[in-house]
Amino acid sequence: MPTEVRQTGVVALSAIAAGIPAPSKASPNLEAIAQLLYLSAGITRQRKYSGGEIYFRAAACTGALYEVELYLVCGDLGDLQAGLYHFAPAEFGLRQLRAGDYRHVLVEASGGEPAIAHAPLTIVCTCTYWRNAWKYQARTYRHFGWDNGTLLANLLAVATALGLPASIVCGFVDAPVNRLLDIDIQREVAFSLVALGHDSGLSAHTAPPSQTALRGLAGISPLGLETVPLSRDEIDYPLMREMHAASSLDSAEEVASWRGGTPPGRAETTDSPPPAGPVVRLEPLSDAEMPRDPIEQVILRRGSSRQFARTPISLPQLSTMLDRATCGVPADFLNPLGSQLNHLYLIVHAVQGLDSGAYVFHRDRGVLECLKQGNFRDQAGYLGLEQPLAADAAVDIFFLADLRPILQRFGNRGYRAVQLEAGILGGKLYLAAYAQHLGATGLTFYDDDVIRFFSPHAEGKSAIFLVAVGHSIKRLA
Ligand SMILES: Cc1cc2nc3c(=O)[nH]c(=O)nc-3n(C[C@H](O)[C@H](O)[C@H](O)COP(=O)(O)O)c2cc1C
Repeated sequence: MPTEVRQTGVVALSAIAAGIPAPSKASPNLEAIAQLLYLSAGITRQRKYSGGEIYFRAAACTGALYEVELYLVCGDLGDLQAGLYHFAPAEFGLRQLRAGDYRHVLVEASGGEPAIAHAPLTIVCTCTYWRNAWKYQARTYRHFGWDNGTLLANLLAVATALGLPASIVCGFVDAPVNRLLDIDIQREVAFSLVALGHDSGLSAHTAPPSQTALRGLAGISPLGLETVPLSRDEIDYPLMREMHAASSLDSAEEVASWRGGTPPGRAETTDSPPPAGPVVRLEPLSDAEMPRDPIEQVILRRGSSRQFARTPISLPQLSTMLDRATCGVPADFLNPLGSQLNHLYLIVHAVQGLDSGAYVFHRDRGVLECLKQGNFRDQAGYLGLEQPLAADAAVDIFFLADLRPILQRFGNRGYRAVQLEAGILGGKLYLAAYAQHLGATGLTFYDDDVIRFFSPHAEGKSAIFLVAVGHSIKRLA
């Protein structure tokens, strides 16, 4: 792929907030694809260490283990022939796995999802268990959602900067998508789809959605491609595969029941009980006041903070981050646009204009409700798996979700959705922090203790994700 590409110059804080409305006719060319892939999953930095070299990618990822792979399914795009391709980040190239237009397989698997049916290009994100599980064991299953999510936060922002509509689709029959890629599902599984671009004339060229999602697979032969073993031996963590199987969709009927609205009352705009405690109004920067660093620059600047200075950030900086990150994610499980499954809870340590304490964010009202005041640096350090980063940050932003109505509405597939959404919102927070020359890092946490800390307000919810934000101290390599 081309390595010299035109910079969009679009302001990062705009690109992370907005999307391009779907009916706009837009199709990516190879240059746009190169930008999308480089700035979401490309190798952007490398660092030498005693055992060799570590390659870092554009989006944050647990343990820098990069278990998410990207496959492209496209029609003829002018400078890229119709086909199925695998993105190879080391070579910065696309490997053609199949020639020809296979989009109908995705259209059928997704039950005729309009975004997919009209997309000149759909990216299939897969996750490889062992790449992450050798270190994190069965918890890797949650990392699939988080790490796929941070990658998608970048991808969505770049798509917006390029003027491409983008839509995340989690509702698809798993088997045909995995079969199209011919991946070994004991090791690697399709997790999410991203429809990119829009062509209203397209659906005429793709097969109409059929009742049997498997129909489109007729005539698709196995690829039988050899893959490089990741290790000499692998340890099996069957829980991950059980969870994946339990959240798989097997039929067009299951996909049809997945579609529709986000659980009533679960969109944050409607379900949060009104604030019962004191509130502080957010003060996001106006468009004129916002730092204007372009999205490309911000993505390349990003790198997880390894140490925070205990110096304060400002309320407008925090407000801008929260506001920009939660403007809405275009996903098939967030309907209408702007619905949200996760709730944001904060431990504020050092924000000028805000007392230290625990807060819950009321997105619909643009306020933070204080749950308890006090200096909670020690507790936060403990909650963040006893890592100093959580104690030293200016603010720790926790994502909590009430899984009961989500699972009731979406079945087990809802578990994938809630983790993925948290990863996307977390990825947006990362970008919103770096756009303002602040630092951020994702963090792991003690699940139940987090809920206890924010209770009684958080009672019944589950801890899903954590991002710490503040002023980074740059350490010398
Ligand atoms: C979901 C998630 C959880 C993370 N958890 C931790 C953590 O517990 N401790 C930590 O030091 N870094 C954590 N990180 C940061 C990763 O180690 C970092 O993203 C990775 O090494 C890649 O480096 P980069 O973000 O600088 O590109 C986390 C990142 C993500 C996305």
